[in-house]
Amino acid sequence: MKYFILFGPPGAGKGTQATSMVEKYNLRHISTGALLRKEIAAGSELGLKAKALIDAGSLVPDEIVEGMIESEFMTATDVAGFLLDGFPRNTAQAEDLDAILAKSGNEVTAVVSLMIPDETIRERIRHRAAIEGREDDASEETISNRIATYHGKTEPLINYYKKSGKYNEIDGLGTIEEVHDKIRELMDRF
Ligand code: AP5
Ligand code: MG
Repeated sequence: MKYFILFGPPGAGKGTQATSMVEKYNLRHISTGALLRKEIAAGSELGLKAKALIDAGSLVPDEIVEGMIESEFMTATDVAGFLLDGFPRNTAQAEDLDAILAKSGNEVTAVVSLMIPDETIRERIRHRAAIEGREDDASEETISNRIATYHGKTEPLINYYKKSGKYNEIDGLGTIEEVHDKIRELMDRF
């Protein structure tokens, strides 16, 4: 099994690029954000707990997202691997992921990081707000907090994965097709 991490700030294009990546490489797409939004839509207890944190632009507790990840790993059998989108998001989650994979003799295959500047994050999220109606896209304050959470908690993972030689960065600017081509060139190496 291969375990790819699709990394990047909010609005970098992770969800957009994941769609074609999972098809081409026969991967299961696991977006912790999408799984949490599903729980919110279903009105589950977990969803209720997550909603206030998501709307504030904060991270939900590690054990919630890690539980989701582990159950996705267990239920998918007919794939060549997984594409983790939006996970891990802090050092504790990255360490826990390593421990979860080590139990089955596996490890992270590679990190594919899409990088865009903060101003582009704001432009893309504002644009998406009008199309998808995601609640955490609706307020400037939430967007600012998501960007701050990214820089404070998630960005340190760049060094974490550089140390293990797994970090690969792609310029997330340019058209969707241009970014797609660069990702494909990289993914073909693994
Ligand atoms: P999550 O759903 O992961 O949101 P995010 O990381 O903020 O990322 P987005 O989904 O906003 O952006 P994206 O990179 O997928 O961009 P997209 O392709 O849509 O998380 C939401 C919340 O859940 C978190 O804030 C947190 O509270 C919680 N959460 C999730 N995971 C967690 C975890 N592991 N631990 C704790 N809490 C967690 O693109 C954006 C827009 O730009 C779209 O409109 C798209 O069409 C457009 N676009 C894409 N590419 C291009 C391009 N090349 N040029 C122009 N436009 C483009
Ligand atoms: Mg997304």
